[in-house]
Amino acid sequence: MTKAIQIAIDGPAAAGKSTIAKIVAEKLGYIYIDTGAMYRAITLKALNEGINLGSNEEAGALLVKTEIDLIPVEGGQKVLLDGKDVSEEIRSQHVTKAVSQMAAHELVRKRMVELQQKLAEDRGVVMDGRDIGTHVLPGAALKVFMSATVEERARRRFEENKKRDILTPLVELQEEIAMRDKMDSEREVAPLKQAQDAVFLDTTPLTIAEAAEAILKLAQERLMA
Ligand code: CDP
Ligand code: CDP
Repeated sequence: MTKAIQIAIDGPAAAGKSTIAKIVAEKLGYIYIDTGAMYRAITLKALNEGINLGSNEEAGALLVKTEIDLIPVEGGQKVLLDGKDVSEEIRSQHVTKAVSQMAAHELVRKRMVELQQKLAEDRGVVMDGRDIGTHVLPGAALKVFMSATVEERARRRFEENKKRDILTPLVELQEEIAMRDKMDSEREVAPLKQAQDAVFLDTTPLTIAEAAEAILKLAQERLMA
């Protein structure tokens, strides 16, 4: 049987994690799991149901009656919330602004980590998020902590939004990204942090292809080990 490894990619918002993780997964024939989409999906439901986003108990109770499924499709994944495709809706600014508050809750993280570990069981996987190398897949053969300057990350999100006719001003995007990074890094449960054994990759000067190539090279080294 061919050897397959787990690849964990963490880092702040808009560093290029999901774009590059998808390419790496496709090249290796692995599945790709976007854990941020799961936190976004439960946040969408919390907003729709009007629960108190600051309450760990309310968030936990909501999760118990929620089904989140990630369905691999060509070029990425589809996100189902209680059977409904919410892949687009979870990217709205409304959800983006609220997600870090929801993701800070212990009960939410516990359930998400269980689901994520189950999805990754016994297979080649590329998983991206904030706590993959530190908590979800601590034994991953390859861990990458990907970053870029906040200015470059905001610029990238701005360009991406333009293609989807979303016209949030650049300054507003930069503020939102910086605020989310701060909340994600400072929360008590599983904060955004580089794992000790992760390779740091600054994508600021890199094209998507160059960043994917760098990770594929590291993956090949691990596969040959
Ligand atoms: O795509 P972007 O980097 O903007 O965000 P994302 O990966 O979709 O993640 C959205 C939010 O979910 C993050 O800002 C975190 O608050 C949370 N998240 C997390 O706490 N842990 C993860 N493993 C993944 C995401
Ligand atoms: O998943 P994460 O939030 O870390 O970032 P992403 O959604 O993969 O990337 C944000 C945007 O930056 C996307 O539109 C990518 O195409 C773009 N990008 C880029 O222009 N150059 C890179 N080296 C990496 C990503």
